Amino acid sequence: MCRNLSKYALIFLFLALSGLIFLLGNIHTVENWNCHTISALYQLQSRIQTAFNPASLPKFYHNRTFCSHLGQRPSPEDELEEHYLLNSISWPEHSHQPAPFSLRLTTDPVHSFFAILPPKVGREWHLGDQLEALVQVHDFQGRPKHYGGDFILARLHSPELGAGVTGTVMDHKNGFYSALFPLLWTGSAQVEVTLVHPSEAVAVLQRLREERSDRVFFKSLFRLGFLSETTVCNLCLPPDQQPLCNFTDLHTGEPWFCYKPKMLNCDTRVNHAKGGYLKHLVTNNEALLFQSGVNLKVHIHASGPDRINVLPPLKEPTKIAPSGYYYDNSWKPLNGFKMRQFSNSDITTQCLTNKMIYMYGDSTVRQWFEYLIALLPDLKEFNLHSPKNVGPFMAVDSGHNILLKYRSHGPPIRFSTVLSSELRYISNELDGLSGGPNTVVALSIWAHFSTFPVEVYIRRLRHIRRAVLRLMDRAPGTMVVVRTANLQALDQEVSLYNSDWYSLQLDQVLRAMFKGLNVHMIDAWQMTQAHQLPHALHPPPAIVKNMIDMLLSYICPEKKSHTK
Ligand SMILES: *[C@@H]1O[C@H](CO)[C@@H](O)[C@H](O)[C@H]1NC(C)=O
Ligand SMILES: *[C@@H]1O[C@H](CO)[C@@H](O)[C@H](O)[C@H]1NC(C)=O
Repeated sequence: MCRNLSKYALIFLFLALSGLIFLLGNIHTVENWNCHTISALYQLQSRIQTAFNPASLPKFYHNRTFCSHLGQRPSPEDELEEHYLLNSISWPEHSHQPAPFSLRLTTDPVHSFFAILPPKVGREWHLGDQLEALVQVHDFQGRPKHYGGDFILARLHSPELGAGVTGTVMDHKNGFYSALFPLLWTGSAQVEVTLVHPSEAVAVLQRLREERSDRVFFKSLFRLGFLSETTVCNLCLPPDQQPLCNFTDLHTGEPWFCYKPKMLNCDTRVNHAKGGYLKHLVTNNEALLFQSGVNLKVHIHASGPDRINVLPPLKEPTKIAPSGYYYDNSWKPLNGFKMRQFSNSDITTQCLTNKMIYMYGDSTVRQWFEYLIALLPDLKEFNLHSPKNVGPFMAVDSGHNILLKYRSHGPPIRFSTVLSSELRYISNELDGLSGGPNTVVALSIWAHFSTFPVEVYIRRLRHIRRAVLRLMDRAPGTMVVVRTANLQALDQEVSLYNSDWYSLQLDQVLRAMFKGLNVHMIDAWQMTQAHQLPHALHPPPAIVKNMIDMLLSYICPEKKSHTK
């Protein structure tokens, strides 16, 4: 019975296939008959095999600079800047151990400790003083380490007061680190020191960044009529394995490539999407360096007290490093600028009346879009039929003449399907803006660049910076706000693609490249580090609220009182 059925099913399938092939052959011109038949069969076959097979990924040359020097050659001036930037983020030497290293000799947060150093003057701490904690790292055998390069974060905080500030960590490159904190509130303050990665793990991350920029890969669908093929894409692909489609942006020279589909032309590309994450990037031995609860984002304890009491000031506070701190769960910038509270929709709407706000970047600025449309009942999202979480998105409050738009940055973007027609580079978009005093541009570009050499990020920011300058020259009064990178939750897997160490390096480059320009920074790094809530790629609403309050405070600063 079963055998008969399956025999009929086979015959039926055969007839159906023959009919389909006959039909296809007749619909299309005779000269293309052969090609289309083969294509149709190829298509059927690939549909059955689920179209896309990451096992056939290209072999990468695992050597340096393969990706970073694609695209236009930088001018001598740009090259100089690049050298300066790369120098400024160079990481201390990590290890004197020959490979394969032994875990026993790497940094162990349990054996490491810190101590709060006594006040420089007197016996008490006062507002405006600087607190120093000295960290000494040890290995798993309890022996002190004699070289630096560990990625350590430090924070001074007080949960009772909703207060927190980031510390500046200095690597003495001999196993000692100093964490320096300004004392910005009176009352209790507790030091928290976190080992994010041991120096040996940073060495692994550094190697992956230079040699395995294929570890996140992308794909595109090509389609013409009923034919479709999906191929692998990336910022750089080995050129000698299969023919390539060159999607390098003609305006900026930003490189992008896909493997050419077998049957279709390059101009039949329909969309772009994240392909996936390569596995088995590290050896079993190296994986031991990324263990949650062991040596990945683990606190280092104090050898003595970890808490101090801060008294009212004795003298004028000295100059301080962080960009701000939390008090009463609200961000207090330290550059003399006052952040206002925009807690209700009325004052927010009043602030944004007659404004056009353009947000460009990754999902961390899309959060701002989502926050604002949730906050403002009259700001209605206009349905552009865009895919969820991808965009572009637009919201309008026609009563108050408010326009809010969000668009993702160009490739490499690890979103689910983005239409090719919606793949835009921020610099090109900025060149298309009229700008002016009613225009606000908010940028956030960092999270999708962590798997590439830093040169790739520098080149992208250089294009954006030029477009920002052109925009501000032709349309004075345009406001540009740049959101920095933020800390996120890390486990072993996330670390290899998105470690905070990568973000830190990009973040330093971002700040340096926009320094001295008339743009406003929103320090997402410190706002996530200083806050008591756990690190998250998409910071929780309590932190987003502070960012939005900063954004709105830049747009609508507190009016100076007219009293003389
Ligand atoms: C990388 O390695 C491959 C194969 O060993 C070699 O052909 C290529 O020239 C190298 N590329 C660079 C930029 O060093
Ligand atoms: C890709 O196209 C750009 C722009 O036309 C060109 O400069 C570049 O050399 C091409 N790259 C390759 C590998 O074909």
